[in-house]
Amino acid sequence: MVKFETIYTENCLDTFRRLPDDFIDMTITSPPYDDLREYNGYHFPVKAIAEGLFAKTKPGGVVLWVVGDRTVNGDETLSSFKHAFAFKEAGFRVHDTMIYAKNNPIPSDCGKRYRQCFEYMFCFAKGAPKTFNPITQAIKQEKAFKSFRITKVGRNDLAHDHIAPKERKVNNIFFYNVGTSSSRDKIAFQHPAIFPEQLVEDQIRTWTNEGDVVYDCFMGSGTTAKIASLLDRQWFGSEISAEYVKLARQRLSAYLGEQVAA
Ligand SMILES: C[S@@+](CC[C@H](N)C(=O)[O-])C[C@H]1O[C@@H](n2cnc3c(N)ncnc32)[C@H](O)[C@@H]1O
Repeated sequence: MVKFETIYTENCLDTFRRLPDDFIDMTITSPPYDDLREYNGYHFPVKAIAEGLFAKTKPGGVVLWVVGDRTVNGDETLSSFKHAFAFKEAGFRVHDTMIYAKNNPIPSDCGKRYRQCFEYMFCFAKGAPKTFNPITQAIKQEKAFKSFRITKVGRNDLAHDHIAPKERKVNNIFFYNVGTSSSRDKIAFQHPAIFPEQLVEDQIRTWTNEGDVVYDCFMGSGTTAKIASLLDRQWFGSEISAEYVKLARQRLSAYLGEQVAA
């Protein structure tokens, strides 16, 4: 049986064997796609991982999969789309394809291309998502909103008692800083590819409630563990590299004391 507040130092496929089916409310993770970065451990059979996650996710649970593509000899790998098809074939719905746009992407000469500044955030769902706590924003211009309403009898012909909503869901392109402003934990940057903490917070709040079970199958420096814990979710994770597990435990000790097991 799995223990919470634990990072298993192993291949996530081995962690799946510890779990009953229909156990996880949300997985949020970023896979070691292509060979963009050098990791200490590297093993990535996407089909088996997608199938494992499908079995272990509760009906109505989601997998939030953050992934980009590498360009090799002028040709994009499209790994992100290959992953999406693997999850679809495993049984998930592709519920939403969101964009994680970087406010401050790493400066690089992209040749005859615009500067690469985003990754995909696929929300794969096991059936219809059971939880959705959308981030909203205030609607400032009520009139402008009304003028775009189209009814059976024409534009802007709203019932007299119509009350325009005061807020609406945000768009599905999310902007985050990367690099040193994405976490206050200096130690985390010993890992080459950490999540912006705000991204993890936004997505966990959206798709889960307090007490729900959050998993990261590629835990890296422990960003998911930190944010899930601060948001009062139950969490556990897998990380194949013992060095990164040590790093994550050191990082998390500031928030959780020495209690994180590995
Ligand atoms: C993109 S990083 C994740 C970083 C993490 N989101 C963070 O904020 O630090 C991917 C991680 O997956 C780990 N990894 C690669 N293959 C794995 C596997 N089969 N099972 C578990 N972890 C794996 C790598 O060692 C690496 O730390």
